[in-house]
Amino acid sequence: MYISDKFNNILPSGTLKFTILIQELRAAGRDVIDLAVGEPDFAVDADVANATTKALTEGHTRYGPVAGLPLLREKLAAEFEGYDPANILVTNGAKQGLFEIFQAICDPGREVIIPSPSWVSFQHQVRLAGGTPVMVDTIQHQLDPDAMARAVTDRTVAILINSPNNPTGAVYERSALERIIDICRKNDLWLISDEAYAAFVYGDTPFTSLFDFPEIRSQLIVVRSFSKTYGMTGFRVGYVAAAQEMIARLTTVHGHLTGNVCTFAQHGALAAIDTPLDALEHRRRQFQKRRDLAVRMGGELFDLTIPDGAFYLFPSVACYQERYGDDQAFAQYVLETANVAVVPGSFFGAPGHIRISFATGTERLSEGLQRIKDVL
Ligand SMILES: Cc1ncc(COP(=O)(O)O)c(C=O)c1O
Repeated sequence: MYISDKFNNILPSGTLKFTILIQELRAAGRDVIDLAVGEPDFAVDADVANATTKALTEGHTRYGPVAGLPLLREKLAAEFEGYDPANILVTNGAKQGLFEIFQAICDPGREVIIPSPSWVSFQHQVRLAGGTPVMVDTIQHQLDPDAMARAVTDRTVAILINSPNNPTGAVYERSALERIIDICRKNDLWLISDEAYAAFVYGDTPFTSLFDFPEIRSQLIVVRSFSKTYGMTGFRVGYVAAAQEMIARLTTVHGHLTGNVCTFAQHGALAAIDTPLDALEHRRRQFQKRRDLAVRMGGELFDLTIPDGAFYLFPSVACYQERYGDDQAFAQYVLETANVAVVPGSFFGAPGHIRISFATGTERLSEGLQRIKDVL
């Protein structure tokens, strides 16, 4: 029986496969330290949990408006000066928002430029929409605008920017973003900005949302999420902000794909928006301390670029190649001998690297890095 050709190029998420392997090892009694994880370790705030269960018991369990609860869209629109609820679509995580965007802008042969290394789902989502991902290397994890300009063809429809970046933790410099905006304006391209990690920025480079540049607004599609910011990964609530005509198209896709996001999860998201700023700042500082610890301990073992955002180190393991093999063999070695899980860089298009998450508490983080040191 027939299976779509699409599957010749679509792979399951490598990181999800890894999560399953870790669960199996733990079930077999091994004390695995998970530095592969892509979600914060903190629990959702009690207010969020209470608002969600209250909505559930009060019967907010039916279909809701496709684009999201009106009050939630209104509150999210307030993040974007000049936008109103018609500029917002509430999606099942940033992931679904991105999927719907590619459905809306791709056709067979149409190209989307993506800086590499990158989060794996981008390129597979483009392919699932019939498009072609065009990967452009970064330089020491920063954008290479000249190379990105050279990658534009008459088939290009969009450039995707993910800052802070998964897997590198890079926060892109303002001057490079300005160049990308220029390229998009000159070539009439969509500019997609995945800002899922916007709450996790450290160091001297302040986070710059692409929404801060009014000149690109009509071509800009911003994707954000409750997942990482509020530790709500399982709620599956994200959102897209864009021009109203684009939101109307995405809402059509959304209506056929899932309809509204889980109604009571959206009530939880409403409560999350009211999280006091100092609580968010406290968490950000905690993550910065973890970042500093990971950089200090990881720096003794690997050649690395200090991440200014997200919660990942992305060091080179090329110097260990002769002894342990490529990045996949390295990750396997560390998992089997040290019981520490890290993700091979080749999962993100960057062989010779590993991704170490510091989304885990300082004690386990430092024990994990110490164990790696011991087995190396
Ligand atoms: C860069 C990036 N974008 C989007 C997502 C998806 O997040 P969500 O849980 O909101 O779907 C992730 C999750 O790991 C991510 O790393």
